[in-house]
Amino acid sequence: MIKKAIKFTLLILCFSIMLFWSYSRIEKINEKKQFISGICVLKEYREEKAEDYFNYHKIHPTFELDTIISDVNEKEGKVLYYDSFIDLIKQPNYVDCIKYYFNNKEASINDVININSKQLLDLDYDNVLAEYLYLDLEGSIIRKCVDYSKKHSEIETADVIYIVDLGLEDINPSKHFLSLIYTDFFLPARIERYIKYYEENESFSPRQVVEIVNCDADQQFYTNIVPSDLSKGLLVINNKFNYLEKDYVPENLVVVDGKYSYYGARMEKTAYDAFVEMCEAAKENLLYIIVAGDNGYRSYNHQNELYGYYEYVYGTEGADECSARAGHSEHQTGLAVDIEVIILEGNRTYSYSSRYDWVKENCWEFGFIYRYQAGKEHLTGYQEESWHYRYVGKEVALYIKEHDITFDEYYTYFVKGY
Ligand code: DAL
Ligand code: ZN
Repeated sequence: MIKKAIKFTLLILCFSIMLFWSYSRIEKINEKKQFISGICVLKEYREEKAEDYFNYHKIHPTFELDTIISDVNEKEGKVLYYDSFIDLIKQPNYVDCIKYYFNNKEASINDVININSKQLLDLDYDNVLAEYLYLDLEGSIIRKCVDYSKKHSEIETADVIYIVDLGLEDINPSKHFLSLIYTDFFLPARIERYIKYYEENESFSPRQVVEIVNCDADQQFYTNIVPSDLSKGLLVINNKFNYLEKDYVPENLVVVDGKYSYYGARMEKTAYDAFVEMCEAAKENLLYIIVAGDNGYRSYNHQNELYGYYEYVYGTEGADECSARAGHSEHQTGLAVDIEVIILEGNRTYSYSSRYDWVKENCWEFGFIYRYQAGKEHLTGYQEESWHYRYVGKEVALYIKEHDITFDEYYTYFVKGY
């Protein structure tokens, strides 16, 4: 019995809905018919625009029929206006859109449609919003840009977009901020360090500041040290801020052929193969490369003894300029090699003092870098070592050479991962 009653009620309900829908449709058709029958007698009436006249009338119910005809027939702008109005009322949330349109007098209908499509109806329409609205930006970005522009009206639109893109909208744009963010190798994650360092060293250029901070050289050497990230493979860094454990010995160590080492030096295999290639190419240029002593791979203990010796002779400060402390030497990675270059007979290109020049210039072709260059002491923490070469692979070596940067900076920017 109850079931029957429910069924019956549902039936009645459906029937009423259908009736209501048909009725409103019929009413609309009738309204349109009535409107057209009134307007079609006018002189300028054009049959093909009948639908437009009706729609225009719906938007401007108070307009005279003459005005409707002339607006739709002649004034393209108005017709566009009408088109966009139709679009406005087509929005699923048209009530909110219309409210926005009436509450924000300066916004055109197209503006409202755009603002709505970017989900920004909660923002007031003003010059700042207008500035970003038609740029190819997502709503969430526009929101941040508008917010930022209102806080920092002195910053130009393009800069604001870039700052937001870098995710730096919470950083106070102090004196050096803009020059820093446009500097090569700028890393947003280091902005506070750049700014601090710049404030303490005003005579430096933005590039110098970025370079120093990227090399961690804004910090005292051997402070904030962390274990070297071995997952970086051949691009592992071991310097004054990164160290290898006492027991770390690289895999794939091979003994250097007697032709290139009189003392049985060892190197990591990939680096060694590249080294042999370099030695052979050097020979064609009448230069003979051999490993200096056994200074390919050096164990932690070996490095410890070596550093101890330098410290004994030169003191800690002097030793730190020419030798790594135990655990911090690139030699422990097996990827670095110290070389001696001998000038072969008949070679008139190089003298004793310029004997490393060919290697400095050409080592990248074999995947090596001239690691501790003159002029970069403040970045690497070491005096020039024209004999010390580090394997990083050809592509990286070329990049480092072409951009005249240190491996420390390359690593921070490209390898470390921010
Ligand atoms: N001489 C270099 C810096 C080292 O000891 O690894
Ligand atoms: Zn060395």
